[in-house]
Amino acid sequence: MNKIDQQDMSFDDWDEQNFPRETVQDFDRVVDRAISRRGFLGGVLAFGSGAAVMGSGLLKVSTAMASTSRVACEALAPPTDGAVHVPPGYSWHTQVRWGDPLFSDAPAFDPATGIPTEGSDRVFGENTDGMELFHKGGTELLVVNSEYPNPKINLPVEQEGAAVSADDIVRLQNYQGVSVMEVAEGENGWEVVVDSPYNRRIHHRTPMIIDGPAAGHDLLKTDDDPTGTASLGTFNNCGSGRTPWGTYLTCEENFNGYFGTTEEADLDEVHAAGFKRYGVSTKVDPGRYNYHGFDARFDISKNPNEPHRAGYIVEIDPWNPDATPVKHTALGRFKHENAAYALSPKGNVVVYMGDDERGEYVYKWVSAGVYVPGGDTSTLLSDGQLFVAKFNDDGTGSWIALTPEDTGMSEAEIAVFTRMAGTAVSATTMDRPEWIAVNPTAVEAYCCLTNNSRRGALDDDGNIRTNAAGEPMVPNAPNPREVNRYGQIVRWRPHNDDHGASTFDWDLYVMAGNPTVHTEGPYAGSANINAGNLFNSPDGMQIDTTGLIWIQTDGDDDNEGDFAGMGNNQMLAGDPVTGEIRRFLTGPNGCEVTGLTWSADRRTMFVGIQHPGAPFPDGEGSLPRSAIVTVKRDDNALVG
Ligand code: FEO
Ligand code: CA
Ligand code: CA
Repeated sequence: MNKIDQQDMSFDDWDEQNFPRETVQDFDRVVDRAISRRGFLGGVLAFGSGAAVMGSGLLKVSTAMASTSRVACEALAPPTDGAVHVPPGYSWHTQVRWGDPLFSDAPAFDPATGIPTEGSDRVFGENTDGMELFHKGGTELLVVNSEYPNPKINLPVEQEGAAVSADDIVRLQNYQGVSVMEVAEGENGWEVVVDSPYNRRIHHRTPMIIDGPAAGHDLLKTDDDPTGTASLGTFNNCGSGRTPWGTYLTCEENFNGYFGTTEEADLDEVHAAGFKRYGVSTKVDPGRYNYHGFDARFDISKNPNEPHRAGYIVEIDPWNPDATPVKHTALGRFKHENAAYALSPKGNVVVYMGDDERGEYVYKWVSAGVYVPGGDTSTLLSDGQLFVAKFNDDGTGSWIALTPEDTGMSEAEIAVFTRMAGTAVSATTMDRPEWIAVNPTAVEAYCCLTNNSRRGALDDDGNIRTNAAGEPMVPNAPNPREVNRYGQIVRWRPHNDDHGASTFDWDLYVMAGNPTVHTEGPYAGSANINAGNLFNSPDGMQIDTTGLIWIQTDGDDDNEGDFAGMGNNQMLAGDPVTGEIRRFLTGPNGCEVTGLTWSADRRTMFVGIQHPGAPFPDGEGSLPRSAIVTVKRDDNALVG
């Protein structure tokens, strides 16, 4: 993205900019331990230590791919303009923009100033992210996350993004969380069914239930809820998930950014260690949002347990607007990216989850009970076992159970300080795990590892940089590159074709790179990267019913230097069998493409365009607005 203004960038990028990446790349230090064995792809990933391997593998594979493509489109060129582009034979349409009404009494969107506070919880939220579509009896509900507020756009221009009143805070809070909206396809394409009884906004003050092993624990008791069993609001809702019984899962990612302190906080050891590991600021500083300046709930000097009520997977019943969302502490507390479910052969619910921070881990949770269609599902996500991933150099891996015996922590402490539990059992440090997707056509799962500029990089004292736990981020097999600017996608196949199994085999599906800039070595990328499909920083991901992998990016769109030829952030389609990856959609400059779901008839894709840098979608002179676009084939054939 164009790093012009901190307020205009994604929260992930903001974090990156505030902890600047290394400027020096020493290619001689790049380890040769990177993947050279044959992976699941049977040699497509001919990632080796020399130019000959990379070069010849690249050409051969590309030619073979072109004749056998399962991706029914012409690969797109990489534009740098302010529009959305899709291949010939497809069309796109704006379905909903930030600030569009869900209810007819919502205030009109002012193209200069957005929406006033009064009524700001009656419109589609800002910064669209993960989403899922649910359908029943001809009714289709689109449930969408709004990840984070952009104060500079939302607050009066003269404030330059700084909140100056409690009213400002309420406005920022109202735009966030989750929007539930009925959608229908009419003459003008897909639109919101305004005033549908299903329409709902869930935001930073919506009452929630807390369940699972941490419910009622002292760590969760606050002034607002002395019982430790309830919470107000859901925060930084990034990726999404769904359950087999038709509920929505929203994933609380960078929740730490909403908390701060107005004075030097007197913290005990537990709180101090927790805030350090999770990045909750203890500096007396307004921070990015300054909620704590106007609402004591967000001030850790007054309510040190409040951050413990955020960082969870939250279950929402889209069909019951009166249902109270449930925060499931059983699934752990970290910077949750998304939640991808699978069922074990016995019917246990398996949920894969990534913790998106440099050097954090990949997790799996397995329910104690089994899913029975039509049975009681109300407590299925409340009781089960959390595991963390360990990837071995030989292409095998294991899920290590986070138990009191092995971590030295109680069940409740494991649920609240899950990162520490992962460190206690020596989990594998990863290059920022973003979305995980389960392949419905094969027993395997994929995880985007978006980038990690600090992997293998040295600090000012010459030491390898560490994650928040102090573990040195040396290159390892699934994260083999130092100063990893491009990212990769790792996938695993559980043993015995059982997502509940404790062991698996893994390989890398792709290593993004730029063979037009780096003609040899790991920064050229894997052999399924070529001049026609360059991208960086894979982030969002879904696998459709045919098994095609849809990869969305949130990376550098400067289109220069290491990123030359990549264009704007985009969505690509990948074939899991041949390894082919083809660019399918490109977003406006400055945006991140994130969130993907399908209509009930699978003839429409809903794609999220977050924080566009251009005046998208309304054109010159208008305010840039995050939006969901629909994509259809012109012949109305299936798109997933
Ligand atoms: Fe919100 Fe890691 O993306
Ligand atoms: Ca993301
Ligand atoms: Ca990202």
